[in-house]
Amino acid sequence: MSKYTYIFHGTAFSSHSPKKINVLKDYLIFVNSNGMIEKMAGPEHEDYQSLLSAYKGQENFHHLEDGQYFLPGFVDLHVHAPQWAQSGTALDIPLYDWLHTYTFPLESKYADLVFAKTVYEDLVSTLLANGTTTVLYFATVHKEASLLLAEICAKKGQRGLVGKVVMDDPEQNPHYYRDADTKTALADTEEFILAVKELANSVKQGVYPVVTPRFIPSCSDEALKGLGELAAKYDTHVQSHCSESDWAYSYVQNRFDKHDAAALHDFGLLGEKSVMAHCNFLDDHDAELFARTGTAISHCPLSNAYFANSVIPIKRFMAKGIDIGLGTDISAGATPSLYDNAKQAVVSSRMLEDGVNPALPAEERGVPDSRISIHEAFYLATAGGGESLSLPIGRIQENYAWDVQIVDTKVPGASLPIFTDNEALDDVFQKIMHLVRPEHIREVWVQGEKVHSRS
Ligand code: GUN
Ligand code: FE
Repeated sequence: MSKYTYIFHGTAFSSHSPKKINVLKDYLIFVNSNGMIEKMAGPEHEDYQSLLSAYKGQENFHHLEDGQYFLPGFVDLHVHAPQWAQSGTALDIPLYDWLHTYTFPLESKYADLVFAKTVYEDLVSTLLANGTTTVLYFATVHKEASLLLAEICAKKGQRGLVGKVVMDDPEQNPHYYRDADTKTALADTEEFILAVKELANSVKQGVYPVVTPRFIPSCSDEALKGLGELAAKYDTHVQSHCSESDWAYSYVQNRFDKHDAAALHDFGLLGEKSVMAHCNFLDDHDAELFARTGTAISHCPLSNAYFANSVIPIKRFMAKGIDIGLGTDISAGATPSLYDNAKQAVVSSRMLEDGVNPALPAEERGVPDSRISIHEAFYLATAGGGESLSLPIGRIQENYAWDVQIVDTKVPGASLPIFTDNEALDDVFQKIMHLVRPEHIREVWVQGEKVHSRS
């Protein structure tokens, strides 16, 4: 009997650093019963041939066919699960109107658990089919439906970090969609945390409760303070929107006479396990606060283009040492694919660097040295996401979870444009990042369990 649960054999791509990928050609990867990568050996390893002959042909030996590759599963740091039901619609109105006209009415429907189940099951399956193995979710204000989302992640094998959303301020939130009052908001959050922790005891890949003030405008001071205390008491992750739109940013400035980042910090909401979406208005001082406290940024490039009219200076934030990952921001971002968002992160950064109007003099066009490469975008979608969540995920490396997508470049009728047998593997990687769709994602594994097979 092998001491390993699975032995995988094939070529893998994983981030070495933000700028560089590791191409692990023809590697043997040994996964233990906890779903962790226990050992890896490439052809240069002294025991490679003997290990290969020892395991080849065994039942738990998985060898990739020609044209197939292992990539780490993607980590999506910002999804509004209830908004999946409106994904692709209403992308052309300002954020504040969008929230009140479309989003809050939709989210209020998740008091209905039958509706919630239908949407959440479809969303979790869709994200897995797109190669996303870990997701940081906003649910709704409803405690029961939020717990249902955590249960669906648990059942489908996705690593879900789920927040019951807090919106307690009766001035700012509609009467039909808010917490009953501040006390209830905090009590429901605490019950939710305990219920998800209980559920987590029987979930191999992990499910996690997340303290989730929607954004500062939706919450009273008392709620924000209470949520900071709950996060500390239970050592949970925290998520919110920070400095997204002109409106939200100015609102916080008027209410507290300080920046969003400083206000969140004063309520105890920044820290190693905090992830803030957007961060469009972060100045250098705020960025240093993020770096110092270990707070991560969820970069949502598509959503920022549609709703914040913004490109964040991702390169500048990376240089400050802030943990950054990618978020789809369903449904302000209308795609469930982090491949799409990785591409957009590159495109947006190019727009920032090169400017949008070539008729302007060169020195007025853009911000020099802003561009990121597809390799850096891949880092954000994988290792950067793992670091943002302080979890051992997002890399194909020893002591990381076996969370992978097996990409098949040779699919009848939809093969990637690879026409020579000896194409450079870095070129293959770039083609994968630009051209893969769910039909190329053959299998998805989370914590050593197969959770999706292409039908
Ligand atoms: N700010 C507060 N709520 C939301 C939301 O649901 N989506 C986005 N993009 N921004 C928000
Ligand atoms: Fe959002």
